[in-house]
Amino acid sequence: MTQGSTSPDSGTTHFGFRTVAEDEKAGMVRAVFDAVAPKYDLMNDLMSAGVHRLWKAAMVDMLAPRPGEAILDMAGGTGDIAFRLLDRIGTSGAPITVCDINAAMLGVGRDRAIDRGKLEGLSWACANAETLPYPDMTFDAYTIAFGLRNVTHIDVALAEARRVLKPGGRFLCLEFSKVVVPILDKLYDTYSFSVLPWLGQLVAGDREAYKYLAESIRRFPDQNALAERMKAVGLTHVKVRNLSGGIAALHLGWRI
Ligand SMILES: C[S@@+](CC[C@H](N)C(=O)[O-])C[C@H]1O[C@@H](n2cnc3c(N)ncnc32)[C@H](O)[C@@H]1O
Repeated sequence: MTQGSTSPDSGTTHFGFRTVAEDEKAGMVRAVFDAVAPKYDLMNDLMSAGVHRLWKAAMVDMLAPRPGEAILDMAGGTGDIAFRLLDRIGTSGAPITVCDINAAMLGVGRDRAIDRGKLEGLSWACANAETLPYPDMTFDAYTIAFGLRNVTHIDVALAEARRVLKPGGRFLCLEFSKVVVPILDKLYDTYSFSVLPWLGQLVAGDREAYKYLAESIRRFPDQNALAERMKAVGLTHVKVRNLSGGIAALHLGWRI
């Protein structure tokens, strides 16, 4: 079985390193993000020493959004990517759609938007990336940051992304990936499996959620495998850019 895939025969999939029934995974992922939502943004800064901000800035640079474009930020959680997109393109066009399966994450996002005075230019929607409530060819761009790893059927979510993109639209995924620098991979392993769960317990009071994070990263397809799966659903001109030695990677593809 390929990394990050499900087994259609047995009806099972991965939840971190555990094998679970396919129909259980979305609920388990939801429970993780229900638990971490209030401390999610603080934990991102602590876990990555702020580096996730650089990765997200790189994502917006690579997308190069233009005013007036219809953009879907899938698995948008607490709004980090959407806020950056909004800062870049302003509120003159259609609102940026922040869509996530988890109402608690979206709730934190809406509160943050209000706190920052971002009352226009964003619309919030609760839906599963595998069954998007949008007609074909709705968006000029689809972004997904640290979300694809969590969906049950990656290929279904990729196909949905392509479906809702207009011809000429672009898909951009920011996700943890495979470290390509020797020594860094060993250090990163130690950090992920020892420090992360400890930090999760200390700050968010939830060791298991951050153990899941480390495990789900290892289960996710590496750079080449994800690029191939994008091509398999019909995304073309796929480009990959490693960030921080492959700790994360950007995957860009087009619907032509
Ligand atoms: C690690 S957070 C990323 C949030 C945000 N994109 C960011 O970069 O800060 C992952 C998000 O994916 C969402 N998610 C998980 N499975 C999903 C699914 N099947 N459909 C939509 N969103 C999903 C979670 O609810 C969570 O908000």
